[in-house]
Amino acid sequence: AKILALHGPNLNLLGVREPERYGTRSLAEINAALAAQAEAAGHELAWFQSNAEHELIARIHQARDEGVDAIVINPAAFTHTSVALRDALAAVQIDFVEVHLSNLHAREAFRRHSYFSDLAVGVIAGFGPDSYRLALEAVFARLAG
Ligand code: DQA
Repeated sequence: AKILALHGPNLNLLGVREPERYGTRSLAEINAALAAQAEAAGHELAWFQSNAEHELIARIHQARDEGVDAIVINPAAFTHTSVALRDALAAVQIDFVEVHLSNLHAREAFRRHSYFSDLAVGVIAGFGPDSYRLALEAVFARLAG
C-alpha cells in the first residue's frame, strides 16, 4: 500500500530543536527509518515536511490523486490552530494516524486541544521519535484488516 508521512512546521529542525523534549534524531533519520520499516512490511512510503500550511494542504490533495491509502501526520503547531488542514484531511477521506513526539497532555493547556484527533483513526503521542514507528505499525495492522 501507499503510505504518506507528513510533518508540519519546525519539524525540519528535529535533532537540534529542544532535544530534551523532541529527541536527538533528525527528520532525515526518522524518515529513513520509516521508509525501511514500510519496505520491510511490503509497503511504499513517501514523506513531506513543510512550514507552510498551504503546502501541506496541497500535498494532502495530491495524495488523493496518487491513491495514497493511509497518512501518518504530525501537524506540529498546526495541531492546535489549523481548521484548514483538518478540512483537507476530511476532504480527501484518507485514513490518518495523528502522531506527536511529546505527550500533549503533559504540557501547556493550549496543546491539549487538537483539530485532528476526532477525525483520526488514532493518536500516538509521547514516545519521542518512536511515536512514528508505532504509528506506522498501527497503519500496517489497519491495512491488513
Ligand atoms: C508536536 C507538539 C506540538 O504541540 C508542537 O507545536 C510541535 C510538535 C509534537 O510532536 O510533540 O511542533 O506536534
